[in-house]
Amino acid sequence: MAFLLFCFIFFPVVAQPQPTSFIFNGFNTSESKLTLDGASTISRPSGALKLTNKSSYTIGHAFYSEPIQILMDNSSSSSSFSTTFVLVIVPSSSGRGGHGLAFTLSPSKQFPGAAAKHYMGIFSPENDGSPSNYIFAVEFDTVNGYNNAVDSDGNHVGININGMYSNVSRPAYYFIDNTDRTEDMVLESGDPIQAWIEYDGKFVNVTICPLNVSKPSKPLISYAVDLTPFVQETMYVGFSASTGEKSSSHFILGWSFSTNGTAPPLDVSELPMAPSKEKVGSSPDRRVIGLIAALSTVTVLLLGILFYFTLYKRNIWFENLEDWELDCPHRFRYKDLYTATKGFNQSEIIGVGGFATVYKGVLPTTGTEVAVKKITQTQTQTQSSIKGVREFVAEIESLGRLRHKNLVYLQGWCKQKNDLLLIYDYIPNGSLHSLLFHHKQSFVLSWEQRFNIIKGIAAGLVYLHEEWELVVVHRDVKSSNVLIDADMNVRLGDFGLARLYDHGTDWHTTNVVGTIGYIAPELARNGKASTSSDVFAYGVLLLEIVSGRKPVDSRSFFLVDWVIECHQMGRVLDAIDPKLDSGYVVEEVKLVLLLGLLCCHPKPGIRPSMRKIVRYLNGDEHLPSIDNWESFDSRDGIYSMFLGTISSRSITKSYPTSSSIGGILDPRFRLISTH
Ligand SMILES: *[C@@H]1O[C@H](CO)[C@@H](O)[C@H](O)[C@H]1NC(C)=O
Ligand SMILES: *[C@@H]1O[C@H](CO)[C@@H](O)[C@H](O)[C@H]1NC(C)=O
Ligand SMILES: *[C@@H]1O[C@H](CO)[C@@H](O)[C@H](O)[C@H]1NC(C)=O
Ligand SMILES: *[C@@H]1O[C@H](CO)[C@@H](O)[C@H](O)[C@H]1NC(C)=O
Ligand SMILES: *[C@@H]1O[C@H](CO)[C@@H](O)[C@H](O)[C@H]1NC(C)=O
Ligand SMILES: *[C@@H]1O[C@H](CO)[C@@H](O)[C@H](O)[C@H]1NC(C)=O
Ligand SMILES: *[C@@H]1O[C@H](CO)[C@@H](O)[C@H](O)[C@H]1NC(C)=O
Repeated sequence: MAFLLFCFIFFPVVAQPQPTSFIFNGFNTSESKLTLDGASTISRPSGALKLTNKSSYTIGHAFYSEPIQILMDNSSSSSSFSTTFVLVIVPSSSGRGGHGLAFTLSPSKQFPGAAAKHYMGIFSPENDGSPSNYIFAVEFDTVNGYNNAVDSDGNHVGININGMYSNVSRPAYYFIDNTDRTEDMVLESGDPIQAWIEYDGKFVNVTICPLNVSKPSKPLISYAVDLTPFVQETMYVGFSASTGEKSSSHFILGWSFSTNGTAPPLDVSELPMAPSKEKVGSSPDRRVIGLIAALSTVTVLLLGILFYFTLYKRNIWFENLEDWELDCPHRFRYKDLYTATKGFNQSEIIGVGGFATVYKGVLPTTGTEVAVKKITQTQTQTQSSIKGVREFVAEIESLGRLRHKNLVYLQGWCKQKNDLLLIYDYIPNGSLHSLLFHHKQSFVLSWEQRFNIIKGIAAGLVYLHEEWELVVVHRDVKSSNVLIDADMNVRLGDFGLARLYDHGTDWHTTNVVGTIGYIAPELARNGKASTSSDVFAYGVLLLEIVSGRKPVDSRSFFLVDWVIECHQMGRVLDAIDPKLDSGYVVEEVKLVLLLGLLCCHPKPGIRPSMRKIVRYLNGDEHLPSIDNWESFDSRDGIYSMFLGTISSRSITKSYPTSSSIGGILDPRFRLISTH
């Protein structure tokens, strides 16, 4: 009787596809459930799954041994899966690591011919992109270069279907508590990172965050896709990792997976410890260790003596901190910055302008790349009261809390004698200015890229003007402050800091700050920066991006006047950058040019708000027609008119011509020196 009942209850269940669910809190006892190949092993005693060691050009795979029913039968609503895992990437000690690891759904556990490097050990140059692969992968990649010849810092997460071209990819970051604020992450930091990949039949969502942060409610990637055509009915699920010339150890500390609702949560307390950065890798011969240790001791002693005589004497280790400086969370130690920039070495300079020099550096504490802006005050400025500096620092402390994916994050500051140092995220591709004007002849920003850049800057400015707790006026919107990251995303830099350039004179009066060519007429007259003077500068920037011409080229060319002229002759499209050839969308170009002109309207009241601008750019609202063009005085040109005012007034005062380093790169100095 009991047997019959048993059959009756269980028979129909067996006929249905079985959902799968498993969890590995560490891999101590899971070797039998996984198929490992290549460099993959389970590290003992920790129990972490190690996909690759630090050897170059290695591949490691680890797949769940059993095939998994991914497409459910036709009657069930839709197929879905959910997985979460904790990954750790430890770069090889010699320089930056590579390449990355990928969570993979594949019809087979074998990948014959699969290549290392960018191919992640799942694709080969022969089958890359082929629809017969039926491979779905989420890559955690630390090196760029699949699409461009040169490897560069990657640090991104992407979704790949059947090939190494990512259908969607994002730099690594996560959203902070359901806001638009983001926190960047370094995949190869060596710290554990938890990732979630969820597919509900409509979206693939990918979320990452550090292990000690709870799961962000907004995913990093939410990609609308129906995977049905791209997968087979049963698939193997697991991980693949590879290294190239650059290499890292790739670890998975824990993993759960389910085709039956949400993947079971990992028990963080049971996970293996994160492999420490030193312990990982080959363990050399004891004699070699001994020799190295002895040599190191001698070297350290010698260096110590050397340092004592050079640095200590020059008073570098001692930062004379004042009380108020002690409780500023964003204060960096000068020592660290000094090490990071190899002692502010000439070779590390990545930019010079105004009173500041920008160095690239690698922080010794975390190994992250930063840009360090060193602002040297002149003798007269040093006389400014300590109160001014303190106020300024308070301002930076609050700017340090600004987080948006289109802003360069100001990590902190440091004061050392006459120098003020600001520490920013390092953005690899350089500035929009250099991409537009100084870049290799062969490289032309496409219209699509330009339009994305235009939208990205707008998103950053909306955040500054309207979305943050305080209104932040940027004050120096210009192409050289628009940085472009490796994925061609926009990061707006230097916000709110332009007033820094005129400190020393008087902290309370705002002299005109900004850059000639971007300064709104009313700002030149009354010196009051406002959100609408930012909008003006943004307008000039729009014209600059479309036309590929600088706002002011010489004393007689003024971009805004020129575009107005083109518009009045009914030939506004004449203003398009000839380098674009015919590769643009006429409606979008027209929209941007007219919007640029509207933003440059001499009457601040007529300029739209940044939020309105975003609506225009997205096509949510139509651009109003500007009827009173008469107020743009075409005979003299609005620029030619107020430029005289500026150069005879405060600019010369706030930007001394003595600053010769600024004169080379910064257009405003060129104007002044001809004055
Ligand atoms: C790394 O893995 C490869 C492939 O299994 C192996 O040949 C090599 O010896 C390993 N290297 C180290 C340093 O463990
Ligand atoms: C789903 O339906 C199609 C046709 O409607 C049929 O060919 C296929 O075998 C069905 N698949 C399953 C798993 O039942
Ligand atoms: C993903 O990108 C590849 C390569 O461009 C393309 O063939 C494929 O159709 C894309 N898949 C989806 C779902 O968009
Ligand atoms: C993915 O994110 C979108 C929002 O971006 C949400 O609507 C959807 O329910 C999410 N899907 C899953 C499987 O988490
Ligand atoms: C998480 O850990 C990192 C370092 O391991 C630490 O800097 C950070 O403050 C921690 N975050 C939280 C929210 O505990
Ligand atoms: C699927 O999930 C449901 C509810 O969470 C549970 O009752 C059921 O036993 C699960 N099925 C399998 C096969 O794990
Ligand atoms: C794995 O086993 C080792 C001993 O073999 C033990 O020290 C370690 O704590 C175990 N790890 C976990 C996560 O249980």
